[in-house]
Amino acid sequence: MMYLIAAIAGIAGALFGFDEGVIAGALAPLRRDLGIDPVAEGMMTAAVPFGAFLGAIVAGRLALAYGRRRLLLAAAVLFVVGALLSAFAFGLWSLTIARLIIGLGVGVAAMMAPLYISECAPAAQRGMLVSIYQLAITLGILGAYVVGYAFHESWRWMFAVGAVPAIALFVGIFGLSDTPRWLAVRGREAEARAALARMREKSESDPAVKAEFAEILTGAVQDENRKARLSDLIAPRVRPALIVAMGLFLLQQLSGINAVIYYAPTVFELSGFSSTTTQILATAGIGVVNVLMTIVGMALIDRLGRRLLLLIGFAGTAVALGVIAIGAATGSEMMGKLALGGLVLYIASFAIAIGPLPWVMMSEVFPLDVRALGMSVASLVNWGFNFLVVFSFPVLVAEFGLAGVFGLYAVVCVVGLAFTQWLVPETSGVSLEEIERHLDSGRPLRDLGRFTPRAA
Ligand code: GLC
Repeated sequence: MMYLIAAIAGIAGALFGFDEGVIAGALAPLRRDLGIDPVAEGMMTAAVPFGAFLGAIVAGRLALAYGRRRLLLAAAVLFVVGALLSAFAFGLWSLTIARLIIGLGVGVAAMMAPLYISECAPAAQRGMLVSIYQLAITLGILGAYVVGYAFHESWRWMFAVGAVPAIALFVGIFGLSDTPRWLAVRGREAEARAALARMREKSESDPAVKAEFAEILTGAVQDENRKARLSDLIAPRVRPALIVAMGLFLLQQLSGINAVIYYAPTVFELSGFSSTTTQILATAGIGVVNVLMTIVGMALIDRLGRRLLLLIGFAGTAVALGVIAIGAATGSEMMGKLALGGLVLYIASFAIAIGPLPWVMMSEVFPLDVRALGMSVASLVNWGFNFLVVFSFPVLVAEFGLAGVFGLYAVVCVVGLAFTQWLVPETSGVSLEEIERHLDSGRPLRDLGRFTPRAA
């Protein structure tokens, strides 16, 4: 049951990855058919992250009142409408508006799907289940590369394909109830208890279900009728959680991931791969490594713990970026090989930890009453910096070269090591309620779970 829930919510992640990645393959035929200039191209491409930014704001405001399920349904509708409008777009403006609508869906879904999963998952598997969401994003990116390759002349078909998973998302979510935690907060106790029992595939009178429900209820009663405000997020109790959630997304994006995801062929070209076929094959290779290493990360997340995995990830990306930067700066004859090896190490280290963990931890660290709002603010940081990196990359490369830009991203990854070491708590196997109690106790968040020996 939990895997089914995660799979359905994961379709939302696949749509996120797909709608970001599909533009890479669609740009060439779009330029040919619509004759667009670079500014128009940038505007149309950026419509998705811009829409996502707006969608995240809206979702944060509506999630408490309308629930996680209804917002996911609304996102699915936006995805279908946006995919069809893009496929039938008659010009640049209609395409830009269509992508803005898709972006709104991405922003809402990118927040609601991990929230839905984390509120339904048992503590011991929560990390792994939320990582399914990140796996879905990477599969969506890979899928978009493949679709771009298959329909290489027809951008209309590329966009239209996005409607299929969107319909599946709607149908799948339609059959599910909202999360037990949200139902409990809204005072719908009977429904909440029934939903929890269904998700655990046990009867409502099962002792484990009763105990878990009692814990959820205690949290819900405490949080009842407290309307979250932005100022709550900077209250001393919540601030450490906000710093962790925002900091991890900031570092994730400034590690340069989407420069690689969007511009991988360009990076390979700059590293001396002259044939476009080789560039495209190498890009597909990056997509595959991204998927595979996300799976490895999922197997490790609840075992090695969040902190160790993040330290490994930031160390790996820092070394990889440093190697590429030094190769590019010295004009090494081995640059081609260094770039390929470096990018594989980079994407592997990213996928194992830096990709999934900000999503996992933003759904864990906030107390329930401000969780949705906190996640929406964290998502805004993600979209804002996503946008910034993707748009600044070509300019920065022209100004400082690949060595300068990758050197900059490498420094960010070293900062990521320090940030993890000093500020990130260990949330593996800790229930959401325990995390909340820890915040309430006023002890530093980073101490959570660190000194408690855990059974393997
Ligand atoms: C994470 C990032 C996203 C990136 C993806 C790549 O989900 O948030 O921006 O595109 O990883 O796998």
